Amino acid sequence: MTQAQVRLYYGNAMADTIGSEHGIDREQLNALGRRLVPLIASLNRDKQRRPAYRHLPYDAQTSERVKKVVAEVKDQCENLVVLGIGGSALGNIALQTALNPYMYNLDDSRRKPPRLFVFDNIDPAQVICFLDWIDGRLDKTIFNVISKGGDTAETLSQFMIVRPKLLEKFGFDGYKDRVVVTTDAKKGPLRRIAATDNLRSLEVPNGVGGRFSVLSAVGLFSAAMCGIDTDALLAGARDMDARVSCEDFSKNPAAINAAINYYFYNQGKKISVMMPYSFHLKDLADWYRQLWAESLGKAEDLRGNEVHIGPTPIKALGATDQHSQIQLYREGPNDKLFTFLAVADFGADLTIGPAPDCAPELNYLSGKKLSTLLNYEKKATEYALLDSKRPCLTVLFDTVNAYTVGQFIYLYEVTTSYAGELFGINPYDQPAVALGKEATFALMGKPGDGYEKLGRQIRSMTDVDTEYLV
Ligand code: PA5
Repeated sequence: MTQAQVRLYYGNAMADTIGSEHGIDREQLNALGRRLVPLIASLNRDKQRRPAYRHLPYDAQTSERVKKVVAEVKDQCENLVVLGIGGSALGNIALQTALNPYMYNLDDSRRKPPRLFVFDNIDPAQVICFLDWIDGRLDKTIFNVISKGGDTAETLSQFMIVRPKLLEKFGFDGYKDRVVVTTDAKKGPLRRIAATDNLRSLEVPNGVGGRFSVLSAVGLFSAAMCGIDTDALLAGARDMDARVSCEDFSKNPAAINAAINYYFYNQGKKISVMMPYSFHLKDLADWYRQLWAESLGKAEDLRGNEVHIGPTPIKALGATDQHSQIQLYREGPNDKLFTFLAVADFGADLTIGPAPDCAPELNYLSGKKLSTLLNYEKKATEYALLDSKRPCLTVLFDTVNAYTVGQFIYLYEVTTSYAGELFGINPYDQPAVALGKEATFALMGKPGDGYEKLGRQIRSMTDVDTEYLV
């Protein structure tokens, strides 16, 4: 049986479809593609030079370790709570939405493994409400605390609320049995806590940034706990690895994707809209938003020149956002490139019932499949955007399963790397995220490192001056 595939369709971005002054022609595309070939070839020659995330689909040891921990804790687990933020949460959420049923948490008949809750925020009203609900269920709850750095204020604060609760309720051994830590192998306070408290732990591999970590233990543990086929996920990523390693640019979907995105950015399309026409794919657009933004939004290029470069990723959802955003997308500034995510086979379908006699004008819907309506709406939106000279791409999923989701994730990770090469920036750092983290430390009274001075400076700039309060 041939495996379901994810493919990139880019005919609508080409000049002859969109109108010569708005599209990209094959020569221009080839010229950009040729710029990527030396990088692709050198990474094929020397695989050790590949960025660390590209080794994850081949990391059988981690995969086995994750399965072992899952086997150890699964029986005592009706609720899995992930504490993490940013790259330590978005992939977990995306995998769960993509690969488990819509009513997974609510409907026991559709769920054998545990419910999943991902706490990627610290709003006290939300946290209290959740803790009230989970309190009587803590006996059958596992907390997976994920933080690469191990010192992220949001995640560690959550943990420092949960830890005393577990200690009080179950004593030390009971607490220890209910926590799985995922963090750096050696560094950081969370690793120290895991070692001191003798907690079960998994590792975030060296050199893998949060936004590239979903195929490591960061994403695999919660996925495997919730019944997702992680072997198929990694197999899909490996399949895509072969395709994005192809030195014939015209057959390489990541290279084409990166080149088209780069080309249109330079034509003034500074905004990248990802619009899945599938509920299951909606949180992959959220995951992509972080990947694209943190990787490509940079002040300096690789030579140290000030460039302030990077496309702004936006997520939208079809068909919902046709009724919310399309007016702007068609008639507002022509500054966007659209990427639709479309699904051929939803794995389930419904037929629309007969129109009531009093509403014969609805007969055109009757007898049609819901999937037909959704996919025609995607086509209709695409047509409407093209009519307004807005360039479009489509990522086509034969179907949504662990294998195709693994392909998609890897496709976009490598697209990001190739786009980084074209933009001439380092896609793997995030220097601008650090200041906000440091400022939080300063405001919360962390000692040392000039935090006191920084705290005073922040207050002088941001404390509310009542003169300007209306
Ligand atoms: O992609 C990133 O590096 C960030 O979004 C981090 O994942 C996020 O800041 C959380 O960091 P950590 O995993 O160290 O707690």
